[in-house]
Amino acid sequence: MAQPYEKYLQEILIDEATLQTRIKELGEKLTQDYNECEDLLLLCILKGGVMFLTDLSRHISVPHAIDFMAASSYGSGVRQSSGSVRIDMDLRTDISGRHVLVVEDIIDSGHTLHFVIKTLMNRNPASLKLCTLLNKQSRREVDINVDYIGFEIENKFVFGYGLDLDEKFRNLPFIGVVRQEALLNE
Ligand code: IMP
Ligand code: MG
Repeated sequence: MAQPYEKYLQEILIDEATLQTRIKELGEKLTQDYNECEDLLLLCILKGGVMFLTDLSRHISVPHAIDFMAASSYGSGVRQSSGSVRIDMDLRTDISGRHVLVVEDIIDSGHTLHFVIKTLMNRNPASLKLCTLLNKQSRREVDINVDYIGFEIENKFVFGYGLDLDEKFRNLPFIGVVRQEALLNE
C-alpha cells in the first residue's frame, strides 16, 4: 500500500542505516572530546532536532543532561528565514559555567542559530559548541562556526527524521528530498 509521504517524496537522500551509522560515529567522537567534562548539557533546538538528540544522546557515554529550546524566524515566508528570530520556548537550565552542546537538525541561512548562540553566550557558559545533523553551506548568509556536522547537503528542501513538511512526517526514519511539485501545490 502506498504510504502517505510517498507523494511528497522525490528521492531518499540519506537512508536510515547511513543516518544511524553517522550518528553513532558522532556520538563516539563527542564521547572522546568531552571525556573529561563533568557537566555536559545537550541543548536540543525544537522541534527539528528532537530525533537527532535522542539517537545521538544514546551514543554519548559521558554523563550528560538534556534540555530543550525553541526558536523561530518570522517576518518572511515559511521557507525563507529572515534576520528576525525569536525564542519561543527558553530552556530551564542555568547554563552559566556549564559545557553546552547545541544540537540542531539543519543549518540553512544560519540566522536562527546565530541568534540562539548570541543569546546563550550572554549567559556565560563554560563552553558552547554546535552540532548539526545537516548543513546547507551554500545557503549561508551569516557566518557560523559549526563544530560537528553529520552531513553536508545541497540546496534542496528535505524532510523526515525530525524535519517537517508542514509539521508532518518528522517521524520518518530517513531524510528525503521534497518533490518540487508538492511544494508548488501548497
Ligand atoms: P536558518 O535560520 O535559515 O538556518 O533556518 C534553520 C531552520 O529552518 C531549521 O532549523 C529548520 O527548522 C528550517 N529549515 C531549513 N531548511 C530546511 C529543510 O530543508 N527542511 C525543513 N526545514 C528546514
Ligand atoms: Mg531546527
